[in-house]
Amino acid sequence: MYDNRGVRVEIPPDRPRVEMPLLSGGTVVLVPLAPVDRHYIEAGFDELSPESRYSRFGVGMESLSNSELEYLTNVDQRHHVSWGAVIDDKGAGVGRYIVVDGDEADVAITVLDRYQGSGVGTALLLALAAVAAADGLRSFRVDVTPANRRVIEWLAQSGVPLEDGDDGLIRGNIPLQGVAVPIADQLVAAMEEFRASMTRSRDPDPETPS
Ligand SMILES: CC(C)(COP(=O)(O)OP(=O)(O)OC[C@H]1O[C@@H](n2cnc3c(N)ncnc32)[C@H](O)[C@@H]1OP(=O)(O)O)[C@@H](O)C(=O)NCCC(=O)NCCS
Repeated sequence: MYDNRGVRVEIPPDRPRVEMPLLSGGTVVLVPLAPVDRHYIEAGFDELSPESRYSRFGVGMESLSNSELEYLTNVDQRHHVSWGAVIDDKGAGVGRYIVVDGDEADVAITVLDRYQGSGVGTALLLALAAVAAADGLRSFRVDVTPANRRVIEWLAQSGVPLEDGDDGLIRGNIPLQGVAVPIADQLVAAMEEFRASMTRSRDPDPETPS
């Protein structure tokens, strides 16, 4: 379906994954991200066009600094939740939210340019929304540059209320409770499985001799 370029991704065998059909045909595999996936984030950023970098980060960036990479990959999958999207064993995008205010989170999605427009961004948003709603979060905030007409129109057409936010950005407030997400149960179960494995690797069984 796509050519030989791109970021080849090897999903660890023990990593939970959820498949979603794409409107354009084919399937996207959604995988919870871990700090060890840092090299994929770095490689994906290198693949992004200047326009997409500007749309996502609000500034034109040549590369991610060490501290930016640290920030983007420091996922605990509770306060900083992140899914990666993989198509035909290639990285296609990443979506994250960071809880900012008890029951509210900042959300951001990036899809590599040649996968845009095929439903990957929607799939990532749905996966994030399923986990956030199950965790009791009430809304996502998304800050968009006024130049990002495509996303502003997407939000407006989806009925998301928009307001002027900080620093000249446009802020959308996406409600989460009561929103039906297809295969939400599968998405939440995959995330719970991954959270449990993260806890096990952080706090190994004290009874087990080392
Ligand atoms: C915004 C972004 C995440 C959307 O991801 P995507 O995979 O292209 O989105 P989808 O294919 O799921 O489409 C989502 C909506 O975008 C719009 N859209 C998609 N392709 C489009 C195109 N070629 N032209 C215009 N609008 C388009 C549609 O409104 C669509 O909604 P619909 O399915 O209800 O019609 C992606 O374009 C991207 O990474 N852009 C750069 C970074 C960015 O702007 N991030 C958002 C701010 S955090």
